[in-house]
Amino acid sequence: MAESGTLHDAFIDELRDTYDAERQLTKALTKLAKKATNPDLREAFESHLEETKGQIDRLEQVFGSLEEKVRGKHCDGIAGIIEEGKSIMEEDFDEVTMDACLIAAGQRAEHYEMAAYGTLVAWARALGHEEAADLLQETLDEEKAADEKLTEIAEAGINQSAADAANPGDEEEEEEEEEEKMAMAGAGAKKGKAKAARRR
Ligand SMILES: [Fe+2]
Ligand SMILES: [Fe+2]
Repeated sequence: MAESGTLHDAFIDELRDTYDAERQLTKALTKLAKKATNPDLREAFESHLEETKGQIDRLEQVFGSLEEKVRGKHCDGIAGIIEEGKSIMEEDFDEVTMDACLIAAGQRAEHYEMAAYGTLVAWARALGHEEAADLLQETLDEEKAADEKLTEIAEAGINQSAADAANPGDEEEEEEEEEEKMAMAGAGAKKGKAKAARRR
């Protein structure tokens, strides 16, 4: 009977998967940055692209610390997420709506990475690979920060602008409501005066 795999084998496998995911993401982040209209968003994608290149180097250091060959293994999960992002980019949306969608696509990728690195850190610690664990933790922190940055950018105006573009009638309606209220208040004031006059 063949010897069954251990957590160490699963750990190396997960590292290879993540190494491949990061390499796929460098291409995807380049596309996201090009497609973004909001300058803060473009900047966030570009700076995370640079960070991602550093994460690839860091993974190579992790392989080195374990005396393992640097090797990737096709990551189907991130490929699917990137594929979804590509189809969103082909949609016919106005600029701000597209930006909101690019953030959604980017955050899917960051959460996938956070799950992967969370597992890698935990397994590295459990297996006693402290150097690897520290390196992987650094990347996990970067992925979390990248995700938070995207939330900040979305909440700083992109989501609201996209929502306003989706409901262009809302502002008019609000104005009409305001006018109606003013008219009613005016009528109320007149009624009040009339009552006061009658009382006299
Ligand atoms: Fe990454
Ligand atoms: Fe990332």
